[in-house]
Amino acid sequence: MLVGVRTMPAYAVIGGQWGDEGKGKIVDYLAKDSQYVVRYSGGNNAGHTVINEKGKSALNLVPAGIFWPHVTCIIGNGVVVDPDVLLRELADLQAKDVDTSRLLVSDRAHVIMPYHVTLDALEEQAKGSRAIGTTGRGVGPAYVDKVARVGIRIGDLLRASDEDAFLPRLQQVLEQKNAIITKVYGGQAFSLDELYQKCLGWSERLAPNICATELVLREALARGEHVLLEGAQGTLLDVDHGTFPYVTSSSPSIGGAFTGVGIPPQSIRGVVGIFKAYSTRVGAGPLVSELNDEMGNAIRERAWEYGTTTGRPRRCGWFDAVAARYSAAVNGYTSLVLTRLDVLDGFSPIKICTAYRLNGKKIDSFPTNIFDLERCEPVYEEIPGWSEPTASAQRMESIPAGARHYVRRLEELTGVPIDVISTGPNREETICIRPIIGRA
Ligand code: IMP
Repeated sequence: MLVGVRTMPAYAVIGGQWGDEGKGKIVDYLAKDSQYVVRYSGGNNAGHTVINEKGKSALNLVPAGIFWPHVTCIIGNGVVVDPDVLLRELADLQAKDVDTSRLLVSDRAHVIMPYHVTLDALEEQAKGSRAIGTTGRGVGPAYVDKVARVGIRIGDLLRASDEDAFLPRLQQVLEQKNAIITKVYGGQAFSLDELYQKCLGWSERLAPNICATELVLREALARGEHVLLEGAQGTLLDVDHGTFPYVTSSSPSIGGAFTGVGIPPQSIRGVVGIFKAYSTRVGAGPLVSELNDEMGNAIRERAWEYGTTTGRPRRCGWFDAVAARYSAAVNGYTSLVLTRLDVLDGFSPIKICTAYRLNGKKIDSFPTNIFDLERCEPVYEEIPGWSEPTASAQRMESIPAGARHYVRRLEELTGVPIDVISTGPNREETICIRPIIGRA
């Protein structure tokens, strides 16, 4: 029955660039007007920072809506879950008096096993100078097992005490993994018994949170409740649409929002792209507007661009409007949120990459293959900076004219309205130009 399905209010919040756009803060901010927040892709390779009345929290798996008592949070089927990391994160939240019984985990989500973490490291080492620079959390190898149809799902853990059903599967997959670890890479084998005991422990501790979350969500949407779909990483790290092979192993873009939670496309009312006012990338792969100079260092130090999950320095560059237009074409954004505008306060001039030069020719589309992309050079437009601060501003009228001009220029170049601007890490350091949630 499709009657009324168009009025279902779900909003996807998508990383528009290479991840680290500030999705954590924005999801926390938008969750005020939502009843559900659902993570749809990735694993604990993500690090979402939230600063609010509970202090500073770095979330790797739990959706950033967890701090609002009226919000139910869901880890969707598209996520890969390291149960030890999840249990640690829940304990940290409980220590801050956050009610974690409002967190549900899809029984269809896949488990990151200890052998996935080991394989992530061994595979990267074997790639040598062509390593991707993964976060080393076992995310890629866990997705490989999902697609190979040998992964263990969170729901399987609930049957761990049924030895006849669970143990033979674990044994079979472990024999294969141990063969690869020891014979291909010369690593150390895992013990079946130790792994089985771990699964029993996870099963017992996580059982109250595990269920068929897509059913919960479909009912919520039928009641007209607001659902935020929280992406991880960014569109340019998407395994299909990103800068392959320098990508993550999941779908951070809009397609992943549907397959990763199990709701129909008609339920989406808004697609919100989160963009930083400049570019960053962590790990290997092309970044056309990268600044390997004093300016790049100045942005990194002022913005403290070091990975939340791994602590690695992020590569920094100017805003890349070519990549942003491509990201908008992939996702069909209805709104943009611009974050970290305050980082550019006082810099002049400010550059925007509006086109690329490839083999001496100017192009304005994003190349689909890495060989071309690696050879592209940025074509910049310069705008004067602004000297008055935007930091902490809460109204558009209180930011300098130069900053307003920059915002308008990014809207023109991307073709999407910027509805919210973040001017600092705290919830209230936000300019709302047009409310996003609940709008018809
Ligand atoms: P993996 O997701 O750990 O396999 O790493 C693959 C690539 O995605 C590497 O370049 C990572 O640095 C990058 N990556 C993964 N997660 C994030 C993230 O949350 N923010 C930024 N980059 C990420």
